Amino acid sequence: MRSFLAVLVTLAFSLPSQANEVDAGKAFSLNSQCPASFSLENGVCRLVSQYQFYDSVQGRGVGGTQTSLPPYRDGFSPKQIDLGRILFFDPLLSKDGSISCASCHQPDKGFSDDLDRSIGVTGEKVARSAPTLWNVAFLDKFFWDARSNTLEEQAMGPLFDPKEMGNTPEKLLHDLNSNAVYKSLFAEAFEHGGDIELNQIYKALTAFQSSLISLNSRYDQYAHGYHQALTSQEIKGMNVFRSFVARCAECHQPPLFTNNQVAVIGAPEPEGQPFDIGAEKTFNHFKMKGGFKVPTLRNIVKTPPYMHSGRYDNLREAVAFYNDGRGNAVPEDMTLYIHWHITSPELTEDEVDAIVAFLGALTDESLTPRIPDTLPSGLPPVDSNYQQLTNTNNNNLKLNNGH
Ligand code: HEC
Ligand code: HEC
Repeated sequence: MRSFLAVLVTLAFSLPSQANEVDAGKAFSLNSQCPASFSLENGVCRLVSQYQFYDSVQGRGVGGTQTSLPPYRDGFSPKQIDLGRILFFDPLLSKDGSISCASCHQPDKGFSDDLDRSIGVTGEKVARSAPTLWNVAFLDKFFWDARSNTLEEQAMGPLFDPKEMGNTPEKLLHDLNSNAVYKSLFAEAFEHGGDIELNQIYKALTAFQSSLISLNSRYDQYAHGYHQALTSQEIKGMNVFRSFVARCAECHQPPLFTNNQVAVIGAPEPEGQPFDIGAEKTFNHFKMKGGFKVPTLRNIVKTPPYMHSGRYDNLREAVAFYNDGRGNAVPEDMTLYIHWHITSPELTEDEVDAIVAFLGALTDESLTPRIPDTLPSGLPPVDSNYQQLTNTNNNNLKLNNGH
């Protein structure tokens, strides 16, 4: 597959540049409208959500439904968002033109990839599973171990990690600057005619990712007052989820179903995988050993397998983990400082089922962005080979990279 792509890359670059530019004018223009759920104010897109009308979490109890949103990223221009969308799908951003951000963050897989651990340019699995990108606009810590604080900084991770996209800043800039279409798209989005700069690439990717809003699930309709939106089983599950017995909402706090904190819960590694110290490294503190960012549970049914290592294949197993007793999966020779809200709740099987049913009501993909039909690089936007492989070979996949 890789050599086939290499041919494509070569083809794309060997086209006479004039032909390229003519095509470019026709095929590529940036949207000047904001995505749905945003309104255009003074040239930039501002989020519009019912949740902005609610007060803070204070005084409403744990897991209150009409709680406000934390600070978030918006204020990007429509063109920056649209340029980010094109970049996100373009394998030109990787070392060898083989994968894009969307290879591991696929829109139809909840912006994740169905794998326990993602596969990068080397064809090998990376250390952890790919988190969803829905609602990243509301986060202030990125990666499972919270090692990055902005989306701009985060983007450097996958781009330049030798096991992920394997690129270098020099090659990335060179490839984009030698593409006439990208030159003109960046000039349009940033009103700046010079060379493309790294911070513009990060900003456009941030703008696009900040537009991936999922706040209109059946749960949200319920939260805004339309009580028929949830079934009685889902409401039962929601109440168990919010109860001080299960305590799920202490960490997976509405409306985002995360409190943006790191917690040690002691979830196990897959058989044969070494223990992942997680946030101990980030914070250089032993009490954070095995600590991971509390993930959002929105669109959770779309993103198996679960946990940082993809240990659990399905949602019921992931929920049942909490019921198997505090510290049930901690390796014998290890001391973990497990969070005080991780207890042994002794939920009944019915209650576990009800929670799982409730989590199914957190699905909203209505603002899924359009996948570009073609890309400025000429490479295929969603690599169907890669998708096919990840679909069929799920767990033991090793891509044959052709050399
Ligand atoms: C090879 C697969 C792969 C590619 C390609 C990839 N990612 Fe990721 N992404 C991951 C994995 C795995 C993680 C989690 C890594 C960790 O926590 O250590 C992640 C984490 C993230 C996060 C953090 C989300 C959170 O909740 O903390 C963001 C944002 C993100 N990726 C965006 C991108 C962007 C933008 C690109 C393209 C420039 C990209 N990714 C390319 C696999 C990938
Ligand atoms: C102390 C905070 C805390 C509490 C309480 C808590 N969780 Fe979690 N949850 C986490 C963290 C941290 C992770 C990620 C752990 C990892 O990957 O190792 C997680 C992961 C998950 C996942 C997998 C998400 C994914 O994207 O892979 C599910 C599902 C989940 N929790 C559901 C629940 C339910 C249901 C409850 C209540 C029974 C609950 N959680 C209670 C912190 C918490």
